[in-house]
Amino acid sequence: MKRIIIVIAILGITGVMAISSCGPEAEGKSDNKPVAAKEEEAHIVIDLKNIPDDQFGESVRYGRELMLHTAQFIGPKGSAGKYTGNLMSCTNCHQDAGTKPFSFNLIASHEHYPQYRAREGKVLTLAERINNCVTRPHNGKPLPLDSKEMVAFLSYLKWINTYAPKGKSYYGEKNRKLDLPTTAANPENGRILFEQNCARCHGKDGAGQLTPEQTAYTYPPLWGPESYQPGSSMHRVVKQAEWLKNNMPHDKVQNGVVLTDAEALDIAAFVNNDALHARPNPKSFDYPNIREKAIDYDHGPFPDTFSVAQHKYGPYQPIIDYWKKQGWKVSL
Ligand code: HEC
Ligand code: HEC
Repeated sequence: MKRIIIVIAILGITGVMAISSCGPEAEGKSDNKPVAAKEEEAHIVIDLKNIPDDQFGESVRYGRELMLHTAQFIGPKGSAGKYTGNLMSCTNCHQDAGTKPFSFNLIASHEHYPQYRAREGKVLTLAERINNCVTRPHNGKPLPLDSKEMVAFLSYLKWINTYAPKGKSYYGEKNRKLDLPTTAANPENGRILFEQNCARCHGKDGAGQLTPEQTAYTYPPLWGPESYQPGSSMHRVVKQAEWLKNNMPHDKVQNGVVLTDAEALDIAAFVNNDALHARPNPKSFDYPNIREKAIDYDHGPFPDTFSVAQHKYGPYQPIIDYWKKQGWKVSL
């Protein structure tokens, strides 16, 4: 706080905003304040009019439709084939079809693959990474790599990638990191917060609400057989809390962040508590090299003596410190 005041004194408010929107430091810091005007300006805005008017453009447009209306095309009753196992859409998590800042933004994805992925212990192509989301959060079976639909997803991701600044990160590329509390996340407190902040849309039973046509969700499910599998990244407490903080409650967050870091963690702990909430059965739990496991993954074995419960709910710092001391890469 003190430092910010000094900076304001020296640079004036505009200076501070410029720093907090572009500075590499700002990206990783938690922040309860509404998004500043300058930051809004820094949003990458996708202009659909720029999609080329040719066959590639057609594939881009179809890819965008698949992001927005996933189940209609490739859901359990999909017109193009039955691949995703639930009625969720990619955009429920990658909001604005993957272009919203701090919402598992996908604008950079195309240039980041092929990439080594610890969960699978091998280098994956972007198509294989897309299929991870088709199989886990969507509880489905992989799209054929040469299908029109997979090619459309890839075309769309390639096209939105043309908006990414070359060789540097951009506003909202990665979700904001949280200040991790020194105590474990508390699912019981999460239940209370959930009822206050979330149940009015997602339902007290977490089942969400279908559209009148029953082909997609107005409010997607948070648990139950129609929701994401354990083993999905959204099932990790820290990963979900980082996303929640900037994106939920869906209506109020538009005027500024509502949840504190600790509240977001408690709610994610409640939502992702498998003793309280059923989910579809995962087909596999991977990480062939256990020293590459995400710290908040909730499925052992781990190369340390911390309990699985501590890995899932924290406190995380002692685990992080221990891993650093061993020289292992911390992924959270
Ligand atoms: C329940 C939420 C959820 C849904 C639904 C979902 N995803 Fe994801 N997706 C995630 C999370 C979480 C990650 C991991 C992001 C991270 O680690 O920062 C991810 C990662 C990805 C990535 C890798 C991004 C990168 O740059 O590494 C791609 C590509 C992707 N998803 C595409 C899709 C597509 C296409 C769909 C629809 C078929 C979809 N996702 C549906 C939650 C979801
Ligand atoms: C005003 C209604 C509303 C409220 C309140 C709300 N959400 Fe959401 N939530 C949505 C909508 C709408 C989406 C899908 C966003 C999209 O498709 O762009 C969503 C998506 C999600 C998702 C990702 C998709 C999924 O189902 O896994 C999660 C997780 C989530 N909300 C959790 C919460 C939590 C936790 C709270 C309370 C802190 C909350 N939401 C409050 C409307 C709401």
